[in-house]
Parts: sequence; structure tokens; C-alpha cells
Amino acid sequence: MNYRHAFHAGNFGDCMKHALLVWLLRAMQRKPGAIFALDSHAGIGRYDLSTGPATRTGEWQAGIGRLLDNPPLELADYVALVQQEGLYPGSPAIIQAMLRPQDRLACCERHPEDLITLRRNFARDPQVSIHGRDAWEALGALLPPKERRALVLIDPPYEATDEFYKLTDGLKRGHARFPTGVFAAWYPIKHRAPTRAFHNAMQQSGIKDIVVAEFWLRPAIDAARLNGCGLLVINPPYGFEAAAGDIMAALVARLADDFDAGCDVARLVDE
Ligand SMILES: C[S@@+](CC[C@H](N)C(=O)[O-])C[C@H]1O[C@@H](n2cnc3c(N)ncnc32)[C@H](O)[C@@H]1O
Repeated sequence: MNYRHAFHAGNFGDCMKHALLVWLLRAMQRKPGAIFALDSHAGIGRYDLSTGPATRTGEWQAGIGRLLDNPPLELADYVALVQQEGLYPGSPAIIQAMLRPQDRLACCERHPEDLITLRRNFARDPQVSIHGRDAWEALGALLPPKERRALVLIDPPYEATDEFYKLTDGLKRGHARFPTGVFAAWYPIKHRAPTRAFHNAMQQSGIKDIVVAEFWLRPAIDAARLNGCGLLVINPPYGFEAAAGDIMAALVARLADDFDAGCDVARLVDE
């Protein structure tokens, strides 16, 4: 396990994932019933962008660094939450900040050092549980939750060549255990062949009600670069397609320099 999210925190992929995460949770919280959030690949939870790994790559400057001043309306909720946190909030900190008294969060992390930091960052919160267990195993073990409503965020590092396969398998197993859950899976767009194969596999999975939101900073033709990213959502809350379209367009307007940048929100499988 070589991947450390501290090098990439606040980059354009995080902005996309976290802006949609905030929207999804807010939409689910329109109803008072308790929500269980499962963050299967958690990272350390909070990131200091002014020192250490983040300064070595500087990736955040082309991401959250471009959104902090005068954020567009579509991103205002997410950016306000980042500003309120001080350190850049990873997905666990974003979800934690949004928990109502009746909600709870479970986070899984396998990297030994990052697990220690994650545990330290959330040690005093009884609504948050930290698991040093494998994400793919946790999708079976922690679902279904006792709450009848859940958001499952799946955000693998894509270090291994079989990560899309594991993701498809994990979504199928998680959905089989908890068919009414909202599942959100982030994926990189380097070149199109792997994402097309992933979409095809999900279309053939038998799972209904799937939407994908994607945006790209440049054409996806260089397999060595992160050219864009996507979020696949199963059982999206009402209004997701329209809101995600607005959020993607706002991200392209702020973060893209390339004339060929763009975004798309598409329904992969009908309800
Ligand atoms: C992209 S980062 C997560 C970032 C985080 N979701 C966020 O948005 O702030 C992926 C994390 O998954 C962890 N990881 C990789 N494989 C895992 C596995 N099988 N089970 C649990 N965690 C894993 C990595 O150590 C890394 O910290």
C-alpha cells in the first residue's frame, strides 16, 4: 500500500467528490430518519495543506485553492464547510461535520500509519467508529445497517490494476446486502477504455437506478495522467442529476484551463 492521500488532498478530484458528497448527504437529511454513512476508504480525515506532502505536490492549488475566493453558488455549501474546518477536510471530516445527533459514521482504513492518524483525529466522537479492516470485506460485514437509510462512499486509490473489478464486485455485493442504500463510487478518468468497461459492467450488473457524473480537465487520452474523474451513484436522491450537472459545470468553469475540458451527467441504468 503505497498510496497516501495527503499528497493529493484538495486536488480537483477531491473537489468533485466532496462537493457531490455534501450535496448527497444534505439531500438525504431532508428526511429526519437516521442515516448511517460508511466511508470504505477513509484516508486520515483531515489534511494540512500548508506543510508536508501537500506542499510537495501542490495539487490543491489547482483544486480547492481556486475555489476559496468567491465560490460559485453551486459550490458554496462545500466551500463553506472547508473554510469552517480550517484544515482541508477529507471525506470522514466532511461527513462528521454534517452528522445530526441521530446519524453515525463508520470509516475503514488499511494503511497502518494512516489508520493511527485517522483514529487520533476522530477519537473523541462517539458518533464515529474507525475500523482497520478491508473496505471490500466491510461492504459485506457492515451492511445492512440498523438504520434503514445509508450513504456508502467508496473511494479506492486505484493503485492495483484490478481496482475497477474489485469496485464492481464490491458494489454488487454491497447492493445485494442493502438494495435501498445510496452508493457513491469515485473513479479516475485517465483514458476512456477502463471507465467504459466499468460502466458496461455496471449496466450488466442487474442493479437499477444508476447515474454517473464526470468532469475532465482535458481529453482523456493520456493514460499516465489523471485527466478527469467520475462519481457513480446508485439510488441517487431526487434532484441529483440536475444538481450534479450544475456542480460539474461550476467546477469546469473554475478549475479547467483547457478548451477541451468538459462534464457530463448521465443515467446509466433506469430506475
Ligand atoms: C483516495 S484515499 C481516500 C480519501 C478519502 N476518501 C477522502 O475523500 O478524503 C484511499 C484510501 O484507501 C486506503 N485503502 C486502500 N485500500 C484499502 C482497503 N482495501 N481497505 C481499506 N482502505 C484501503 C488507502 O490507504 C487510502 O488512505
